[in-house]
Amino acid sequence: MTDSRARILAGNWKMNLTPGEAIEYFGALEKHMMGHARKSSVHRVIFPPAYDLGTDVQRAAAACQVELGAQNVHWEDKGAFTAEISPAALVALGIHWTLVGHSERRQYFGETDQTAAQRFKRAANTGLNVMYCIGERLQEREAGQTQAVLSRQLGPFLGVLKELLTKPGSARPDKQMWCLAYEPVWAIGTGKTATNAEAEEAHRYIRQTVWDTLGMGVAQKMSILYGGSVTTENVSGLMQQPNVDGVLVGGASLKPEGFARILASA
Ligand code: PGA
Repeated sequence: MTDSRARILAGNWKMNLTPGEAIEYFGALEKHMMGHARKSSVHRVIFPPAYDLGTDVQRAAAACQVELGAQNVHWEDKGAFTAEISPAALVALGIHWTLVGHSERRQYFGETDQTAAQRFKRAANTGLNVMYCIGERLQEREAGQTQAVLSRQLGPFLGVLKELLTKPGSARPDKQMWCLAYEPVWAIGTGKTATNAEAEEAHRYIRQTVWDTLGMGVAQKMSILYGGSVTTENVSGLMQQPNVDGVLVGGASLKPEGFARILASA
């Protein structure tokens, strides 16, 4: 990675850990982080389930210099949208980050490129930092369609980003972070990580696509995280790739000792 981009280390807890367990987790994480130097320039974010976003858990996370983020966000601030998460309510709660378009949302809950882009637009306009997830499925990779899938997924995202960057409005591109997470679906929760070379190749393609659509300045500033079976063993190699600016860690973020080592890796 280069110094011109934010380095971000993130954990996605998915549907794990109650608020009580989350507070215990951060207590343990703080202890395990003590032996490691903390770089103030690195952003550390954990995306716990929505019921762990309250002030008690936020306080426990802040003691580890970790910010909390939501795993999903709706494109309206309020209304008849049972079980959805209001971006305005997140901001009111003191939450500054959200994931959008995670493959599990796409696979099990009908998220599409279009709904993900709508969520991104509202979240950005509400002042949130957004980590927008893309990635191909195994059969798509095997059919040689990886780049076509990434291009298709990036299209609506880049359309919204273009609007945000060109239309003066409430969004503040200079203050907010809108980044991408490349998560090949075949690597998520499977123990089968992309090799360093496969990750770098995909990240380079993603950055090139951003460049072709929105220009060099935007592409060079865009942090692109890798996700999919990241562990304490493979994180350093991935982070050394020139176009990998961070990691989004699922299973391995649930153990404070291991996640403390991952946090120390950048
Ligand atoms: P994993 O999950 O690290 O358990 O593969 C990554 C993710 O889904 O973000």
